[in-house]
Amino acid sequence: MRVLAIYAESYGCQMNAYDTEVIVSHLQERGHRIVQVPEEADCIVVNTCSVREHAEQRAIGRLFDLSRHRNAVIAVCGCMAQRLGVSLFARVPAVKILAGTDSYALLPDAIESAVEAGDRFSFLEMDAGVTYELLPAAFRGGVSRFVSITRGCENYCSYCIVPFVRGKVRSRGADSLVSEISSLVRAGAREITLLGQNVLAYRSGEVGFPALARRVLHETGARRLRFLTSHPRDITRDVFELMARDGRMCAHIHLPVQSGSSRILALMNRGYTREHYLAAIAEARSIVPDLAITTDIIVGFPGETEAEFAETLSLVREVRFDSAFTFRYSPRNGTAASRLADDVPAEIKRERLQRLNLLVQETRGDILRTQLGATVEILLDGTVQKGEYRFWKGRTPQFRNVLVPCDSLKEGDIVPATLKRLVNFTFEGETPPML
Ligand code: SAH
Ligand code: SF4
Ligand code: F3S
Repeated sequence: MRVLAIYAESYGCQMNAYDTEVIVSHLQERGHRIVQVPEEADCIVVNTCSVREHAEQRAIGRLFDLSRHRNAVIAVCGCMAQRLGVSLFARVPAVKILAGTDSYALLPDAIESAVEAGDRFSFLEMDAGVTYELLPAAFRGGVSRFVSITRGCENYCSYCIVPFVRGKVRSRGADSLVSEISSLVRAGAREITLLGQNVLAYRSGEVGFPALARRVLHETGARRLRFLTSHPRDITRDVFELMARDGRMCAHIHLPVQSGSSRILALMNRGYTREHYLAAIAEARSIVPDLAITTDIIVGFPGETEAEFAETLSLVREVRFDSAFTFRYSPRNGTAASRLADDVPAEIKRERLQRLNLLVQETRGDILRTQLGATVEILLDGTVQKGEYRFWKGRTPQFRNVLVPCDSLKEGDIVPATLKRLVNFTFEGETPPML
């Protein structure tokens, strides 16, 4: 087999980005090489997302766009391939290979024969045994790396397509994770983010999430540890106690609330109430006073009244999120909520989203301003040019952005910075002169 040029693109969440690295590793192991532009590719791999209608429309548009590269075989994988299946062949004729979320190990053979002989392949079987345990993701460099610890989700939040396209929850073995993370650290990673639709569902033998986090801290040499996402129903004190005890466990939690109304939360099948969420936040802050909390929120869920939306606004005011990803409800075929009438008019959804975003920005600014003058620790992960000056870009443990002047520092350094100014939610800071 000749060496093929592979171009890969990833849409959707960070777990999809990690999967794309897994796919790329499989192909590199066969001796194929990765190229940076589709023009040079024998095969274009597109890893897709289905979470909202808009995500799929974007992916389809991109596939038509990529269809111009007539010499390349197009392989579509990920959640949208899993959901739409072979109907994609008819919709975008240039697509030659479909690989669902549990089928990435089959891609190299399929890509080789599709390039050589023009064959078509579709692998859409779901297999709860697949953890992609054997092949750590390719090393791409970078001081901050992501590693999936679980696949799938069985929470069946009523609006969500993920359980249907990603299947049952399974956890990667703790030993294999520790060894992959150790090799990433040896290759230069300073910060590791553990990924899962709900990392708190992690279980490998006796090892649950807090025990896994402790092992990563003690055995891998990672200087910082983060994790995404946590389900509010499953949150327990021990995660925050670990943050309080060990500064390497970053004081930040992404805890999607989705709505501030207990009635809507019940319809969403989230398994907690507004009061439970607020109590969990209060407890977390009592253990980790400088905790930053970020969230996801959906507006315009079926039946959401103005008063219920107002409860979401009041929850945002009460919690004071560092930031929030906000979405208009988008019905997904096959989910429980898709059987409810999508009765909040598009105009009202848009207007609620706008009001919510304004409030989120306002509270974000308020929180960040309280930090001015403080000295915080930042991990440098790149540079930016502003006018004639070059700055290092860093993140605090709370995931806040800080720019510091480019002196003798280098990527991957963890340094103190005093926060002097706030411009567009990014701090400008100074490092002590001796650094
Ligand atoms: N596992 C994570 C989130 C996965 S999807 C969790 O449990 O929170 C990321 C976000 O997309 C969700 O938190 C939700 O806010 C949003 N989302 C999911 N399905 C959606 C839909 N049908 N319409 C609008 N937003 C949706
Ligand atoms: Fe979707 Fe809920 Fe699972 Fe998150 S926890 S992926 S929102 S079903
Ligand atoms: Fe999208 Fe699949 Fe992630 S639907 S959000 S890529 S799990």
